[in-house]
Amino acid sequence: MLERVFYLLGRLFKTMFKIVASKLKKNKVIRRSILSKFFVINPLYLKGIINPEMHSDFCRDILTLDMASKMTSLSRFKNLNDALLPFIKTKRIISIHDVAVSNGITSLELYDFLKKNNIKFSLDISDKYNFYHVYMVSNHIQFFLDEDKNVSFVIFFGIYFNKSLSNFFFFSKYVTLIFTYLWSIYDYFFAAIKKNITINLFYPSVWSLIKSRKISYFRYDVFNSVLKEKYDVVRCMNILILKYFSDSQIRVALHNLKESLRENGLLIIGRTSLDGVNHVSIYKKKKGGMILVHVLGEGSELNSYIG
Ligand SMILES: C[S@@+](CC[C@H](N)C(=O)[O-])C[C@H]1O[C@@H](n2cnc3c(N)ncnc32)[C@H](O)[C@@H]1O
Repeated sequence: MLERVFYLLGRLFKTMFKIVASKLKKNKVIRRSILSKFFVINPLYLKGIINPEMHSDFCRDILTLDMASKMTSLSRFKNLNDALLPFIKTKRIISIHDVAVSNGITSLELYDFLKKNNIKFSLDISDKYNFYHVYMVSNHIQFFLDEDKNVSFVIFFGIYFNKSLSNFFFFSKYVTLIFTYLWSIYDYFFAAIKKNITINLFYPSVWSLIKSRKISYFRYDVFNSVLKEKYDVVRCMNILILKYFSDSQIRVALHNLKESLRENGLLIIGRTSLDGVNHVSIYKKKKGGMILVHVLGEGSELNSYIG
């Protein structure tokens, strides 16, 4: 009952923030940050009562430790899938790695699209942050740790604290640091009795495909993971963004992606702008270099780092 009240209060706060934010028409960044970052998690979600609507709400709202959002959406890559088709129309099996997939909904669409077009393929999907360990001190104080056991964010009576939010809400950073410190004490003293549940951020039907081995999933950090496997197609959308990562991080990530491609393999890289337009470049790996073979929208902002 109390949980329900907190949840409803949370929705009310969020609606109020939306109204305030809609007045800030000129400042898209502030508007988006208010809309998406100040929210309340429904504790019922954590008890495993998952419905797709709650699931995508949750994914849309959280920020990972390295500042990436988990925002994704159905149908966002429709024109991208169409553009890819002529490059992969072949009789042999195409191996594909879809990087940083969030809840995997766009991978599911790619999967359905390839099946519909009779392409033979194997699809691997990856992300760095798809499972969180949630420690509930009470239903209203929850610590979310990523798979490396770092405190990623804290829900304190319905308010979301994440240190990456300091750009917009300076106090969030400091409150999160205090929580992280408290966590380390709590962790030390209560290790044996803490209740931990693991939440899985994959969209339920994506998780079903993973469980039935039609798609395979592995944890992958685009900055640090070096793969032995070589792919015909590597798709990396909406993660390598100049605003969020340093030049050297971007270069390392591009090197890792390129090294995971076969000769003549395709790298699909880009981002979706706020108005939903895809700005994407498709590169082909040839004799150690990368040749631009197709552009959607304005192409990737990383073109000068790749060529
Ligand atoms: C904005 S979502 C993109 C989802 C999907 N690719 C799309 O475009 O709809 C960014 C994803 O990158 C993941 N991510 C963040 N840091 C990462 C890293 N270092 N390596 C791999 N994935 C990362 C996040 O967990 C998140 O799911």
